[in-house]
Amino acid sequence: MTEKRVPFGIKSLDSMICGGFLESSANLVEGAPGTGKTTLGMQFIYNGITMFNEPGLIITFEEFPQQYYHDAMQFKWDLKKLEAEGKLKVIFSDPATALEEFEDPDGEFVKIIEEMGVKRIVIDSMTHFETLTTDPHQLRDIERRFINALKREGLASILLRENDSLLGNLSQMTSKIPFIVDTYILLRYVEIDSAIEKALCFLKMRGSDHQKDIRCFRVTAKGIEVISKFSGKEGIMSGITRSTPQDAFMNAFGKK
Ligand SMILES: Nc1ncnc2c1ncn2[C@@H]1O[C@H](COP(=O)(O)OP(=O)(O)O)[C@@H](O)[C@H]1O
Ligand SMILES: [Mg+2]
Repeated sequence: MTEKRVPFGIKSLDSMICGGFLESSANLVEGAPGTGKTTLGMQFIYNGITMFNEPGLIITFEEFPQQYYHDAMQFKWDLKKLEAEGKLKVIFSDPATALEEFEDPDGEFVKIIEEMGVKRIVIDSMTHFETLTTDPHQLRDIERRFINALKREGLASILLRENDSLLGNLSQMTSKIPFIVDTYILLRYVEIDSAIEKALCFLKMRGSDHQKDIRCFRVTAKGIEVISKFSGKEGIMSGITRSTPQDAFMNAFGKK
C-alpha cells in the first residue's frame, strides 16, 4: 500500500522521508535563531501551492504578514499574489486566540481552512504557547489540544520552535512537544574547520521509515538546499565537530 505523502518539493529532503510527510501529521522543526526555520516553513507552503496545488495557511505570532511577504520575495516567492489568488492566507495572531479558533469547529480559522481547501499549515512559532502557562502539564495539554485540532482538519503542519542554544548542548525546555508530534526535525549550527555550517536531521518520524544521517544544508537565493552528508566528521549534533580517526589518519598520512 502506498500512502499519500505531503512533500516539501525539495528532492533531497523528500527522499530522506520516503517522499514527504504523512497526511494529517504534525511536524516539528526546531532550531536556533537564523538556522532557517521560517524559510523552510515558507518553502513548504509555497511549493505546496505552486507544485502540488495544495492551498496553505501561515499563522504567525511573531512577525507581521508584511515581513513575511518581504522575506519571501528574497527567494522570489510572491506570497501576496498567491493570497490574491485565494491559495494562501498569512494570519497574524496570538496563541490564545489561535487555540480558541482551532478548537471551535465553527471558528473563523476553521471556516477559512474549509473554504480554501487548505492542506498545509505553518505555525511560527509554537514557542509562544509557553506564554500561556508556567505549568508544564498544562502546557502539554494546550499543545496537544492545538495539534489535535490541526489534525482534525486533515492538515499537514510544520510547527516551528526556537531553541536558543547556538552551538554546544541543546538547551532543555519545559515543553514536551517532541513527544506529541509525528516528526521531529532539528536544524543546527555546526563548527567545522573554523567555519559555521548548518546541519539538519530527522530525529523521529512516526509511522514511516526515514534516513537517520545528518545532512549539511544552506539557505541560498532559491531557499533551503540540502547539500550532502558530513563525511569524516564526528560530534556534529554536539555543534562542534572533530575529525573521525580515519579522517585524522588520512589528513596526517595521506592516501595509502
Ligand atoms: N536570499 C537569501 N539568500 C541567502 N540566505 C538568506 C536569504 N534570505 C535569508 N537568508 C538567510 O537565511 C537564514 C535563515 O533565516 P530564517 O529562516 O528567518 O531563520 P529562523 O526562522 O530559523 O530564525 C538567515 O540567517 C538569513 O541570513
Ligand atoms: Mg523565524
